[in-house]
Amino acid sequence: MLVTSALPYANGPIHLGHLVEYIQTDIWVRFQKMRGTTCWYVCADDTHGTPIMLKAQQEGMTPEALIEQVGKEHREDFAGFDIAFDCYYSTHSQENRDLAALIYQRLKEAGHIEARTITQLYDPVKKMFLPDRFIRGECPRCGARDQYGDSCEACGATYSPTELKNPVSAVSGAKPVEKETLHYFFKLSDFKGFLKDWVHRKGHLQPEVAHKVDEWLQSGLRDWDITRDAPYFGFEIPDAPGKYFYVWLDAPIGYMASFKHLCAGKGVNFDDYWGPDSSAELYHFIGKDIIYFHALFWPAMLHGAGFRTPSAVYAHGFLTVNGEKMSKSRGTFIKARTYLDHLDPQYLRYYFAAKLGAGVEDLDLNFDDFTQRVNSDLVGKVVNIASRCAGFIKKRFEGKLAAVLPDPDLFHRFLGAGEEIATLYEAREFGKAMREIMALADVANQYIDENKPWVIAKEPGREEELQAICTQGLNLFRLLVTYLKPVVPSLATKSEAFLNISSQPWPDVSTEPLLNHRINDFKPLLTRVDPDKISAMVEASKENLEPAVASGPLAAEPIADLIDYQEFAKVDLRIARIVEASHVAGAEKLLQLTLDLGGETRTVFAGIKAAYDPKDLVGRLTVVVANLKPRKMRFGLSEGMVLAAGPGGDELYLLSPDEGAQPGMRVK
Ligand code: MSP
Ligand code: ZN
Repeated sequence: MLVTSALPYANGPIHLGHLVEYIQTDIWVRFQKMRGTTCWYVCADDTHGTPIMLKAQQEGMTPEALIEQVGKEHREDFAGFDIAFDCYYSTHSQENRDLAALIYQRLKEAGHIEARTITQLYDPVKKMFLPDRFIRGECPRCGARDQYGDSCEACGATYSPTELKNPVSAVSGAKPVEKETLHYFFKLSDFKGFLKDWVHRKGHLQPEVAHKVDEWLQSGLRDWDITRDAPYFGFEIPDAPGKYFYVWLDAPIGYMASFKHLCAGKGVNFDDYWGPDSSAELYHFIGKDIIYFHALFWPAMLHGAGFRTPSAVYAHGFLTVNGEKMSKSRGTFIKARTYLDHLDPQYLRYYFAAKLGAGVEDLDLNFDDFTQRVNSDLVGKVVNIASRCAGFIKKRFEGKLAAVLPDPDLFHRFLGAGEEIATLYEAREFGKAMREIMALADVANQYIDENKPWVIAKEPGREEELQAICTQGLNLFRLLVTYLKPVVPSLATKSEAFLNISSQPWPDVSTEPLLNHRINDFKPLLTRVDPDKISAMVEASKENLEPAVASGPLAAEPIADLIDYQEFAKVDLRIARIVEASHVAGAEKLLQLTLDLGGETRTVFAGIKAAYDPKDLVGRLTVVVANLKPRKMRFGLSEGMVLAAGPGGDELYLLSPDEGAQPGMRVK
């Protein structure tokens, strides 16, 4: 079996949202391994694309250096959460370059690649074609400002970036121009029949996902542009100098490349897993946002290039924190590292497990619920069994367990529950599995409550009984911890050390109880969640907030030096009504404005001709610098200055106050 998680982008840190996926996959893989399945878990950093290229430029480093550094941090974060990859690699690797070229070549030979000249927006300042996400402008449908090049957040319209009104490059602030370029397309439409079948084959997709993908199939498959022009950080397309594979082409191939790297190190046969006749199982765990890539493009690419297709793609929902989207200002955008600085990763693994099912619903991390759940289940129910029994065994019986179980039926009842729990793990119904396990923990605690070892311990002559009860309790504890092992591996390992037993496989009916066996000293296996630590983590996450000087207009015009309030207060800004506006004979850029300042009339010459038609300005309120020394211009005296934002030319946006402001009011 080969299992993957989606490859995180190498331009940012791992956060708790990502961890839903890596924890989910890791639990499933650990479960498979405990059951004796040969199972490989691979992943990698997704290192290519424009955002990574630009981020490296901003940081003044090469993309290679950036992805190296981020790769190191990602590995440390994953290790911190006990995510046990068999190989964690990078898409910027020789294996991936070769495999991407091979798949492209095979698709091309089979006629699935088509060259087409397209028109794209180009940043004349940065000298680069602009990805949709790096173009902002007005929505062609509703006119909302500052929308992305592909879709409008205000009205939901989707469009092509060339349809956007007044587009601006978010990289340089320049006005993009249209430019032709030759691109290669993957003819997804060639695979319509194949995909229709694949999507509905039992088990490939979750029912709700298959339904969604079906809608996409119905509405028609568009061919996929797999090309990006230089400058780009990625793999150059063989035989097409200056053209690169789009990051999403080589990203899923990164699953194969990571596995190929593993094969070389471990002597595993690559083709046994990826060849067309592979009998291995192949599973991809992904978030619901990247279903299109994994349920359509990816199976089609594999099929078209003569490789096997996935056994299943499992999508999960998105994480919210305290019921809302993760937010930097609220401190709920929490990096993996910040969490690890404050809290035990076992808590989060358990909490996510308790909330995860096989579906694609979003899940919420609520801090009160988190604290309560972990403290009452893991600490209060499970660890508590061990701490209630261990002391007596240690002090009274030199650490030795009894020779027989007083209630073997109860032990067998716990063993018998193993198959049901395994079925739930297998089906990714981790929440249900946790409930089963906690129900057993309740039974174990009830057993101890009823048999009251702390009472028996005080009564002379009941030594044997005391040892037997505690032996029973510890044997139940051992099974519970083993059932929880995929979820809380560190807790399980510590428990195994305490019980003085080897690493436990999944229990079955032949599992013998621990009898006549010497255990080690009990050390606290897990402490309660301290709510103060959660507050500290949220506080620390608020500090993560850095001014976004990444790209966009702010990069083109950085924030000026700091001034103090006194300096600012010298500027007298007033609300003014534009009562007249007209062209100025002979002036290229100027409009003449007559302003009413609420009792005083001024004439101002403003360089806004390219952006405004004078008749649209009449009646409008704006903001004027009222104490600017009058300036003599070629066309007359200008008695102030109106305020507008933007780089200039036809890209100027006159400031106007909210409704209710009156001419003459001071702006401060
Ligand atoms: N690089 C692509 C995946 C390429 S796979 C061939 C990518 N990277 S990502 O860093 O944005 O996301 C990695 C995974 O984390 C994705 O499956 C994504 O759905 C998941 N998550 C990112 N944020 C998440 C939440 N807030 N909640 C749950 N999962 C989230 O997409
Ligand atoms: Zn819109």
